[in-house]
Parts: sequence; structure tokens; C-alpha cells
Amino acid sequence: MAEPQPGCTAVDVCTGTGDLAEELGRRVGSQGVVLGFDFCPAMVQRAEIKRRGDMVRYSVADAHCLPCRSGSVDCATIAFGIRNVGDPERVFAEMARVLRVGGRLVCLEFGLPQDPVRRWLVRAYERAVIPLLGLLMGRREAYSYLAGSIAAFAGPDSVREMMSRAGLTALETKEMNLGSVYAHRGVKL
Ligand SMILES: C[S@@+](CC[C@H](N)C(=O)[O-])C[C@H]1O[C@@H](n2cnc3c(N)ncnc32)[C@H](O)[C@@H]1O
Repeated sequence: MAEPQPGCTAVDVCTGTGDLAEELGRRVGSQGVVLGFDFCPAMVQRAEIKRRGDMVRYSVADAHCLPCRSGSVDCATIAFGIRNVGDPERVFAEMARVLRVGGRLVCLEFGLPQDPVRRWLVRAYERAVIPLLGLLMGRREAYSYLAGSIAAFAGPDSVREMMSRAGLTALETKEMNLGSVYAHRGVKL
């Protein structure tokens, strides 16, 4: 959805351990550049270890204030990050700022389906199955946070509205995983 063409410049915000940044790196190739930003130094260190090519560079940076020139980027992505930031509106505005006109912003995030039956199923999965898996993996706190933060976060419609207010147009949304995950895409005007 971000359309990272060979030779283009991409940023991945809240990059974590860099899975999406590495995929972008594969698409932009050796002539392109991918900048992966995360405000957690330990995440950036782990991403560095997984780095597969010189085209991907990781740095510690806050999503609310990206160290990039305005209009300098062809695509900007954020996967499972917008739910975690302090001010999602500002992060979308910041990502839109660094995009060139015609550049694409893609946001992948959890959400809940409208349909009551699927909504109940997804909620049950998030409230019961995810914390149980966390417990079995010895990461109870992290996975309880995951379920709680999904329940507390704005739904897919609100995410689209925020993207629209950030100046993104031609918005499209793909529903995935029974309506528990949404990929939103917008183009900078
Ligand atoms: C759930 S992880 C997602 C990581 C990765 N994008 C992925 O899909 O695997 C969320 C990441 O957002 C980062 N994060 C949260 N708030 C941030 C902020 N304000 N600025 C930069 N990174 C932030 C966290 O450190 C964490 O690595």
C-alpha cells in the first residue's frame, strides 16, 4: 500500500525491531533509503542486529518530532505504533510533514469490527487468548497491556479522520484478520 519503488526514500516510525523497515529496504533496493525511528534505544539496537542492507538506517527519535526535512520522503509507515504514542494527531501531522506531495502514509493498527458477532469474537480473543498466551510465554504484563491498549484506542473510523485532518487524501482502508487489524493509506495533497 505504501508503494516503495526502487530508489525511493521511506521512513518507518515506531519501527521497533525493524521488521517493516527491512521489508521496505528490500523494496527500495540499494539505490533507496529507509530510515527507521523508535524512541526506545533497546529496540533500535535490536533492529541494528537484524539489519540486512546499507539502505536501512535506524536512529533513536520520537515520532512527534521526526529528524527529517519537510517534503523529503516518498512513503511513511507506522505499524502497531499509533496506538502507543502520546498524541496520535501530532504524529500523523509529523509524518505528513515529511512526505512529499503525492507521498503515501500507511498506518497498520489493531481495531474492532462493526459487526457484533465478529466484534464479540475479536474482543474475547484479545481479552482472554492474548493475555493467556502472554502468561504462557512469561510476558504477562506486556500482553495484558496489549489487550488493554487495543480496547482503549480509537477505532478505524477515528484513525481515518485523524489522517484526513493531517492533510491526507484518497484514504483507503483494508480490513484484515477478521476485522481485528486495519491497514489505512492516505496520499499527501
Ligand atoms: C508494538 S511496537 C511495534 C513495532 C513495529 N512497528 C512492529 O510492527 O513490529 C511499538 C513501538 O513503538 C515505539 N514507540 C512508542 N511511542 C513512540 C514514540 N513516541 N516515538 C517513537 N517510537 C515510539 C515503541 O518503543 C515500540 O518499539
